[in-house]
Amino acid sequence: MNKKTKVLLGITGGIAAYKSAEIARLLVKSDYLVKVIMTRTAEDFITPLTFEALTNEKVFLYNSVDKNKPMLHIDIAKWADIILVAPTTAEFMSKILHGRADDMLSTVCLAFNKKIALAPSMNKNMWANKATQDNYKILKKRGIIFLGPEYGSQACGDVGSGRMKEPEDIFNDLEKLMHKPKKFFKNKKIIITAGPTIELIDPVRYLSNRSSGMMGCEIANAFYDQGANVVLVKGPCKYMQNENIFCINIKSGEEMLNAVENNIKGCDIFVSVAAVSDFTARDRADKKIKSNDKLTLELKKNVDILKTIAKNYKVFTIGFAAETNDLKSNAIKKLKNKGISIIAANKVSLSEGIDNENNSITLYWGEGLEKTLELKNKKDLALEFVEEISKIYN
Ligand SMILES: Cc1cc2nc3c(=O)[nH]c(=O)nc-3n(C[C@H](O)[C@H](O)[C@H](O)COP(=O)(O)O)c2cc1C
Repeated sequence: MNKKTKVLLGITGGIAAYKSAEIARLLVKSDYLVKVIMTRTAEDFITPLTFEALTNEKVFLYNSVDKNKPMLHIDIAKWADIILVAPTTAEFMSKILHGRADDMLSTVCLAFNKKIALAPSMNKNMWANKATQDNYKILKKRGIIFLGPEYGSQACGDVGSGRMKEPEDIFNDLEKLMHKPKKFFKNKKIIITAGPTIELIDPVRYLSNRSSGMMGCEIANAFYDQGANVVLVKGPCKYMQNENIFCINIKSGEEMLNAVENNIKGCDIFVSVAAVSDFTARDRADKKIKSNDKLTLELKKNVDILKTIAKNYKVFTIGFAAETNDLKSNAIKKLKNKGISIIAANKVSLSEGIDNENNSITLYWGEGLEKTLELKNKKDLALEFVEEISKIYN
């Protein structure tokens, strides 16, 4: 299960405070854990009871104390993943700019070392005032995130900039800030292979390749974050996937095929990212081969995992093809020969592909369809890859 994101919702004394109830409702509905702190003035605009009912949590007030937790402000700061203050008054902007800590919300903000997002809300002249504008610029420089304000009609009858963003827009901004992925693959079982395989020649020597396993593990992470039930079948490599992903460690191509077939029941998508050794020793020596001047090794073709799965099981199959040359024609040949759904071709050079942090991929599928995902680090590329697959698969 994904860890739930913990949002500390701060409410200050602006006229838009009534809209914060909707923000709290949207957060709770989307499975965030929400705690609320209200300033003393905020209580003039909306009651704590509203938020207690919406969040099912006790609301902290400007002077809250807990006799069991003398360091309540530190406990709250440690608990939260993000602080969202909506609405943020001009006064509160000024307060955190100066590092003041004279009530619960400002003290928690001072003790907090993760993301703080402010949704300002005030009259257009208050917003345009040089003092507020200077505060805004300095806070932004310090890394405080601003959601709005917006231009529009205001409670006082003026029209201008200073209006709080709509609750739904603030909620969507927060989702993006916390990189909460859309759950495209919820309840889908996805088997992914990653890393190299090693093919023993004798008890101490083997054939292998330079695959780091990074691309496959990052793709497994990206599918997992999008709600998939991921099975990772991984060859020997140091790169680690999210610890919650079910992982089967194997060594040879044959073991990899067995692991995939043993888990194929109920599988929706098979993604073969592993660099499976194309060849394996025809006869593996039982004893260590003596070091001679010369050694001739006879190799045989290794198992073709991708082809076997595409041929024998009704599964959407995606294969990776690392090529040094003729990328497109080689990739399309593989797409047809292996009878798979999509081929993801990547160039191998000194700066991209195998054993590198960066990669670019071109996807080929159907009759002449293609999409290139430009060169970037493998973590970001994996996110883009999974998003593209969601469009093709759906
Ligand atoms: C009716 C009324 C509405 C107000 N609306 C706002 C507002 O929208 N934005 C703002 O910055 N201040 C507004 N204020 C002023 C703040 O309430 C005041 O600066 C207060 O000290 C803010 O305290 P806090 O930031 O600790 O909640 C309003 C005051 C009143 C009386």
